[in-house]
Amino acid sequence: MYRCTIRLAEQHWKCPVRCMSAVAKRRRSLPSAFPVLELPLQPFHQHVYEANLRNSNTCNKKFVELSEKVRKGGGQNSIERHTKRNRKLLVRDRLRLLLDDEDFLELSPFAGLNLPYGDIPSAGCLTGIGRICGLWCVFIANDATVKGGTAYPITVKKQLRAQDVATQNRLPCVYLVDSGGAFLPLQSEIFPDKNQGGRTFYNEAIMSAMKIPQVSVVCGSCTAGGAYIPTMAEETVMVHRIGTIFLGGPPLVKAATGEEVTPEDLGGAKLHAEVSGCVDHFAWEEKEAYTYTRNIISTLNFQLPEEEEHDEEKTRKRKAEEEPLYSSEELLGLAPRSYNYTLDVKMVISRLTDGSRFQEFKARYGTTLITGFAKIHGHLVGIVASNGELSYQAALKGSHFVQLCDQRDVPLLFLQNTAPTPAPTRSVSKAEMNSNHLKAQGSMLSAVACASVPKITVVIGGCHGADSYAMCGRAFEPNFLFLWPNARVSMVAPGHAGSLLPSDAEQQQQQEDDMNKRLEEESSAFFSSARLWDDGVILPQDTRKVLRDCLDIIKQQQYQISTEKGQSALLRV
Ligand code: COA
Repeated sequence: MYRCTIRLAEQHWKCPVRCMSAVAKRRRSLPSAFPVLELPLQPFHQHVYEANLRNSNTCNKKFVELSEKVRKGGGQNSIERHTKRNRKLLVRDRLRLLLDDEDFLELSPFAGLNLPYGDIPSAGCLTGIGRICGLWCVFIANDATVKGGTAYPITVKKQLRAQDVATQNRLPCVYLVDSGGAFLPLQSEIFPDKNQGGRTFYNEAIMSAMKIPQVSVVCGSCTAGGAYIPTMAEETVMVHRIGTIFLGGPPLVKAATGEEVTPEDLGGAKLHAEVSGCVDHFAWEEKEAYTYTRNIISTLNFQLPEEEEHDEEKTRKRKAEEEPLYSSEELLGLAPRSYNYTLDVKMVISRLTDGSRFQEFKARYGTTLITGFAKIHGHLVGIVASNGELSYQAALKGSHFVQLCDQRDVPLLFLQNTAPTPAPTRSVSKAEMNSNHLKAQGSMLSAVACASVPKITVVIGGCHGADSYAMCGRAFEPNFLFLWPNARVSMVAPGHAGSLLPSDAEQQQQQEDDMNKRLEEESSAFFSSARLWDDGVILPQDTRKVLRDCLDIIKQQQYQISTEKGQSALLRV
């Protein structure tokens, strides 16, 4: 049922998702009585717990500071220009009108902060997954308060990642377009290469052929490349007065032909709804456009399961039973400030799973990796969690368990906290042991790469070296990858630069110090998220809710009617 880990280009429209609509509605999972992990905090945890808690509080402060910064978009002047002069709604107000509720999963909100070419709040474009008429949809919404919504390289990367999320999880995709096209000073980093600007349009066609619905709302400028997003979407709504679609604007027309023309006459909503046929719905104002869009989504052929009816008392009781035994706030003291401050990962698991229950697999073998089954808000998952170095035995066990979950169609959750340095492979005396270790790691890498079930990765501590690939790092295409704010992402952890440098180097100490300083700066979770190496930084205490949303989102593809019929992209007039 989850055979949909498809790469856009490589597998094109051959989506082997099976249609299960009618059957899915009536299914219920098998009853389970997994053992409870009774792991309360003990006095001997105190020292490590408090050190972690202090570090988590510092990281969380940074999280709040960056969240506030991002919420301000392009700053007060741009906001006034956008709302007062251009009379447009702010991007978050648009989402309020489009989505059922404000409870959406925003992706990579810190992308674009502190980059070498400046601070680009939200990378100039909000992306995420929210419900429209009860259906989870990806949204890609330009924030025109950030340099007119122009596309920086990071904006393009963020849009492509959102399309990837839509494709991998078969989610309808809604584009709110309000963009001045490419950010011209960086054109060489936006235009020519495979995963740059043009890829957005290519993806639109491929997604359409895969029957992943795409709707676009023109609620601002769609200049140059931006013009292809609405014209390639399957259905498009355009807002009178504020929406324009043209390849070159009025200044270009004046320069080329000497003619003076208004943006409205050149490419406004009336022209495109009545003359060119580029758009399908004309809206007098923004609010109307979002109502149209919601109605379009309600025409998509999905059949969601009926809400089950319970009496209130029963629901309340069930909820109480399913919550973990321990407070999610305790995760703040379990989030390791460094590898040396790591407590038993089962303590983390027991604060995430329904009723703190966990059916461990191979509990006595390769104990530096914990594997087993649990439920999260009723979703059965296979958990693979780092609990030390990924030894030979641990990697073999990981490989076995991942294949087991693949066999049973059970989604995988990786809780990643890898060792600070790569496993040693240089010592001659340990050659045999090292090569066995390498082979076991290779086997786990293959198992993870080839598993066709959905995968979610949460980096709860370190993300270093090849072990991070085995624990389903970004390159291994998990459906979602999140970081806790304390996470560190680098080839080796800060303080371990010595393992990267040749031992006979002159001035080795100086080089090592410089490299460690660099690793310290470049390994922070916020540095990673700014560059879109993940889908966002999440607070440890929110992890269970984020996982629930992701698992609900992944499951939705079962309710799409008729996904198998191969076809070409939908073509407009
Ligand atoms: N590249 C770089 N910067 C751009 C830009 C572009 N394509 N388009 C706009 N900007 C910048 C402006 O210089 C301005 O910067 P500032 O805030 O530092 O002064 C900011 O974005 C906002 O632009 P402004 O024109 O003041 O806002 P607006 O709301 O009146 O108009 C646009 C927004 C997008 C409609 C308008 O700027 C425009 O038409 N831009 C050119 C679009 C274009 O020709 N793109 C071709 C790309 S291939």
